Amino acid sequence: MNTNQKKIQRTKIFSLIKNKQTGIQVLIKGWVRTRRTSKKFSFVEVNDGSCISNMQIIVDNTIKNADSIDSLTTGSAVSVKGELVESKGGRQAMEIIAEEIELISLAPQSYPLQKKRHSDEFLRTIAHLRPRTNKYGAAFRIRSELSFAVHKFFKERGFIYVHTPVLTGSDCEGAGEMFKVTTLDFTNKEFIKNCSGYNDDFFGKQANLTVSGQLSAEMFALALGDVYTFGPTFRAENSNTSRHVAEFWMIEPEMAFCGLHDNMDIAETFIKYLINHIMENCKEDLDLFAKFVNKTLMQTLDNIISQNFLRIPYNDAVNILSKAKKKFEFEVKAGHDLCSEHERYLTEKHFKKPVIIFDYPKEIKPFYMRVNDDNQTVAAMDILVPGIGEIIGGSQREERLDVLEQRFDETGINKDEYWWYLDSRRFGSVEHSGFGLGFERMLMLVTGISNIRDVIPFPRTPKNIEF
Ligand code: 4AD
Ligand code: MG
Repeated sequence: MNTNQKKIQRTKIFSLIKNKQTGIQVLIKGWVRTRRTSKKFSFVEVNDGSCISNMQIIVDNTIKNADSIDSLTTGSAVSVKGELVESKGGRQAMEIIAEEIELISLAPQSYPLQKKRHSDEFLRTIAHLRPRTNKYGAAFRIRSELSFAVHKFFKERGFIYVHTPVLTGSDCEGAGEMFKVTTLDFTNKEFIKNCSGYNDDFFGKQANLTVSGQLSAEMFALALGDVYTFGPTFRAENSNTSRHVAEFWMIEPEMAFCGLHDNMDIAETFIKYLINHIMENCKEDLDLFAKFVNKTLMQTLDNIISQNFLRIPYNDAVNILSKAKKKFEFEVKAGHDLCSEHERYLTEKHFKKPVIIFDYPKEIKPFYMRVNDDNQTVAAMDILVPGIGEIIGGSQREERLDVLEQRFDETGINKDEYWWYLDSRRFGSVEHSGFGLGFERMLMLVTGISNIRDVIPFPRTPKNIEF
């Protein structure tokens, strides 16, 4: 082979735009967004998914294969070799003068993503194709960058990343909202008749998809200091809201030798860090959301990163809500959980900034939260943000063995099953805290997308497991 004839490597459009180096030979592959054909030239807009910008390809109608351009439809895949030049006009800074163009595959006219705006509802019915639109391409590039930022934040602070199990025998939140995992064949009537329950099942006891990695993360925090887990979690809540899905990702840091207020500090710093990272690294994609999805997006984000979150005890929050002029659908009752409308009133109308509510009544919170000296409340904290409501739930954990055992009894959970969890309080127990950030809710916050189904590739909700 002639070594002077270097093979051109395929380049991503984002890097061509970033490097701004014209006059070079390039090869790109992607999908056709639009085509215009004139007498001498065809203009083809190609997108390769690497960024929101298309690359305009100028095809002289005399080059080889030029006639195949005439049939190029939206959604077709092409490969283009040519020279990258400064654009003479138009919106883009650069374009490619094609020397070779090859049709990789032709999309028929029935391709559902024609050049018009489609509703989010319609696009959910074609969730397998929606990442090819500008909006969803941008959303999922931001999702990728946000995951990276999560790891970067913890890495910079010396946290250790722990992979907690997805299959579990315990119910961390004690709310019984778990999907059961079984290999038993419930369609086989004969088998069911003779089956003695979970003893016959794969694990010999009930197994579930995890609702939270917290309990496992605690074991590692009590060995490695500061840890975090970041993975999928599952909840069989039958709630069809714009903020709940049955499968979502959660980031759960757990810190040893850390009390409730330090926990809040880390959570607040974390949210601000993630927003800053996306504002700095996803400018072009974020621009789309600020222009077309939520006109007040940048204002909301600036408002969050530029001031301290407000911190108030649960009792004070309830007082504010009971004096509020607004008519709520659900009554505000001391000792009860706050509803989404109450949370949103506090953060959007009353304080107009993120709010951290702490010291909740112990009756409405899980067994693991540390009981306060008043013996009425626990060292819990929820962070509420405008547009969403609860984005983080966390707490200081009960580290006293006797109090924890009592909490198991009070909440009606069989403590024998949690012998290993109790062991961690038996041997070198220390003050520790952590929280869970809903990854999809964080994405809703940074993009302004108002339905959680639109920030996760293939949403799982009641009666919906297509794709
Ligand atoms: O408040 P939650 O239930 O807290 C826990 O699971 C703790 N074990 C976390 C911890 O302390 N390590 O859930 C944490 C967050 C919520 O604030 C919310 O953002 C998100 O997870 N979340 C959901 N997101 C989407 N769909 C659902 N069904 C969600 N349920 C909770
Ligand atoms: Mg919660």
